Amino acid sequence: MQIREIMRSCPVMPVLVIDQIEHAVPLARALAEGGIRVLEVTLRTEAGLAAVKAIAESVPEAIVGVGTVVRPEQFAQAKAAGAKFAVTPGLTEKLALAAKEAGIPLLPGVMTPSEVIAAMELGFDALKLFPAEQAGSLGMLKALGGPLPQVLFCPTGGVTPESAPKLLALPNVGCVGGSWLAPKDKLAAGDWAAITALAREAAGFR
Ligand code: 3PG
Repeated sequence: MQIREIMRSCPVMPVLVIDQIEHAVPLARALAEGGIRVLEVTLRTEAGLAAVKAIAESVPEAIVGVGTVVRPEQFAQAKAAGAKFAVTPGLTEKLALAAKEAGIPLLPGVMTPSEVIAAMELGFDALKLFPAEQAGSLGMLKALGGPLPQVLFCPTGGVTPESAPKLLALPNVGCVGGSWLAPKDKLAAGDWAAITALAREAAGFR
């Protein structure tokens, strides 16, 4: 699956921070039940890679990827764990090359027009706008769509259930990313029904 196809298959890509491995599978199932199948499991916790592996093995309806990738060697590790795509908060040539070598589709982060053009030079036309809120969110995406209409964005960082539908209405937004679908307190309480309800709301945004 290419990045654009992945972006088009879910209006909201949940950014998941999983501290306890036993939360991984029920969380993925709860989100998928609500209609959110594309999952970004961040590698910022120790359980991250194991969580990807568990979801890839046990939740076939999910399209699981990794996020917070900042080191080249993480792409091959993610691919081996079963990740279908990777997300980075920014982009370097080293990261672009490592993702290509690992054979894993990459959604790289950018924040400025020059970074968008640099990413295009490296072969990417589907990008994460990060941090979206600080970058100007709706206004920034409208402005980028003028000179760079060929780029499809996934704004992430500060996106809320209130701002998401407005962002998704823009022609250059494929999906949005956000952590609100898996609140820490609901995870800790194992309140999977609440997470399914949040996913159902988000799945209806487009
Ligand atoms: C992140 O990497 O933490 C994402 O940008 C999520 O941001 P959010 O918590 O503002 O949705």
